[in-house]
Amino acid sequence: MADPGAARRSEEALLTGVGVGPGDPGHLTLGALRVLEHADRVVAPTTTEGSAGRAESIVRGALPDLVVDRLPFDMSPEGAGGAAARAASHLAAARRLVPWLSEGRHVAFITLGDPNIYSTFPSLVAALLELGWRGRVETVPGITAFQALAAATGTVLLDGTESLSLVTALEGTSDVEHALEDPERAVVVYKGGRNVAAVAQLLAAAGRLDGAVLGERLGLDDERVVALGEAGEGPASYLATVVVPPAGRAGSLR
Ligand SMILES: C[S@@+](CC[C@H](N)C(=O)[O-])C[C@H]1O[C@@H](n2cnc3c(N)ncnc32)[C@H](O)[C@@H]1O
Repeated sequence: MADPGAARRSEEALLTGVGVGPGDPGHLTLGALRVLEHADRVVAPTTTEGSAGRAESIVRGALPDLVVDRLPFDMSPEGAGGAAARAASHLAAARRLVPWLSEGRHVAFITLGDPNIYSTFPSLVAALLELGWRGRVETVPGITAFQALAAATGTVLLDGTESLSLVTALEGTSDVEHALEDPERAVVVYKGGRNVAAVAQLLAAAGRLDGAVLGERLGLDDERVVALGEAGEGPASYLATVVVPPAGRAGSLR
């Protein structure tokens, strides 16, 4: 016999993707803390269940006693042929959530930066839908790596009618090149650690290197924030962000 309470419990369930900022627990918002303190379960992505992932470490800085369930995720670099492994790990993670959500629980999933910008959260939701789960999904915005870098370097990203391109440079710099075609456009480069020297060369050729900054592992113990022109020739870490203010105006508060 069908469980008459199952539909109601499923309706009560809530999955919230909570952005926890790039690294500094000081960048956790009040909204994020409120959700983390009130959710029935807080779950965090990690590479292995025995160790805390970055999002969990950030949250621990503000809420040391919070109970966090770790969900192993395949973190092999995107574009390296690991799509199937990543999709399988999303499904495995979703399967862990189904029992809690089916009981009508509120589950909060923590994620670096903002949950709607290059985050695993939408993939987790897609995997839940694939498993047939239907329920309420919300997100709590988080401070992004590029906002933290702009603040750390006193960089004014946008003014007046200027626009912004947020591009990636995981496998090459063509999107950066395209974004640089409009001098009034600020450019943010994510996932470009491996190609950071090539990004610097492009900016130099476009006369945009002045004012460009690089932030690596922002908010973590080994953070590095430098002018991109002084970053050196080697690759940076995967957790590297470049911010380029629009050309032709003072882009700095300093
Ligand atoms: C998978 S995306 C996550 C983006 C994140 N959801 C956000 O809103 O900022 C990973 C990329 O974000 C940037 N990033 C995230 N955290 C960072 C940090 N602590 N320091 C520097 N860059 C970071 C890097 O460009 C990295 O390659």
